[in-house]
Amino acid sequence: MSAIMRTYKQLPVAFVRGRGATLWDAQGRPYLDGLSGIAVTNLGHCHPRVTQAIEEQARELVHTSNLFRIPGQEQLGAELVAATNMDTAFFCNSGAEANEVAIKLARRYGHDRGIKTPTIIVLDGAFHGRTLGALAATAGEPMRQPFEPMVPGFTRITPEDMAGLKSVTAHSDIVAVLVEPVQGEGGVRPLSREYLLALRSLCDQQNWLLMFDEVQTGNGRCGALYAFQRLGVTPDVLVTAKGLGNGYPIGACLAKGEASIALRAGDHGTTYGGSPLACAAASAVVNTLADPHLLGRADIIRERILHAFNNHLANPALVTEVRGLGLMLGIEVTVPATGLVTAALEQGVVINVTAGNTIRLLPPLVMTDEEASQLGHTVAEIINQAPEIAA
Ligand SMILES: Cc1ncc(COP(=O)(O)O)c(C=O)c1O
Repeated sequence: MSAIMRTYKQLPVAFVRGRGATLWDAQGRPYLDGLSGIAVTNLGHCHPRVTQAIEEQARELVHTSNLFRIPGQEQLGAELVAATNMDTAFFCNSGAEANEVAIKLARRYGHDRGIKTPTIIVLDGAFHGRTLGALAATAGEPMRQPFEPMVPGFTRITPEDMAGLKSVTAHSDIVAVLVEPVQGEGGVRPLSREYLLALRSLCDQQNWLLMFDEVQTGNGRCGALYAFQRLGVTPDVLVTAKGLGNGYPIGACLAKGEASIALRAGDHGTTYGGSPLACAAASAVVNTLADPHLLGRADIIRERILHAFNNHLANPALVTEVRGLGLMLGIEVTVPATGLVTAALEQGVVINVTAGNTIRLLPPLVMTDEEASQLGHTVAEIINQAPEIAA
């Protein structure tokens, strides 16, 4: 029996090597990666610039602690604020941790304004992580119920419901709104630009902080460094992780204006966060993503996938909706979806299913046109065969 706690129902394959959009198992069988480690290796596996940065930094200095200045962290902070027009950054190690920073920041902002029980608006369908604060912000009873009592201070509304949005303004303890521009785990559901603009103007009117969780949508995934830049709606707080280190763990909470100075000395901390090694990896990622041609690949690869998919799908009635932005692609199917991941794996293709019946594709920006066509073709084929899988 494995010594690993059984928190994951793992698939019966182990990868030992990766390059670009290809993974290999121990027997040397190649797999086309349509998942990127769940939106992490956006630049593909072992991207040469990231690998070189990690190798060089690992030879110099891996860790010191935030008790001392960390030049690489200061450099990464400057690069990120310049690229996002934010003002300050706090570095940590994961998406959930970065959301914890945002939650604490919003509460601190509230206390500074005399609000003793600050409340954050979150959405149905949201996923923000598994730590207790991030879990309280997350929707979905099965994930939450075994760990009650939940951290208080969140109120949940339905996405896109403008009337519901207006009705919460009566609540005097609200300090912030936390949303994913495209809900990832919740089924690859983009929020409309109109809704995001309505959130922005409400936050401006009420002096609330607009906080975007771009853990999954960020770092090139949606065809811009961050999705907000493509959508043209700027948050006060920007949460990122996943693709920021292209596989090396790092998260960040960036903030602008008043939010950027809400957290003060002693308010938050981390032993590992923003280490020389993590920051070297992330700087290589941010600099590589400065290439507009690479970001532009998101839409081209998406089109290629969907072109091949539509050409090979035998029966359009098997698909309810195709959603997403850039390389966050959700294909909602009417067939039982769980067997599809294994069926794809048998064909040498890695995909994911989320929110019950939505195939989620998160391929890397370095995927070739041919690989994109192969991905779209395979996904169509496994859907075509799905009724047999279910039988
Ligand atoms: C939008 C979003 N926020 C937060 C998280 C949590 O990130 P992590 O698993 O790095 O803690 C995820 C992970 O899937 C996510 O998609």
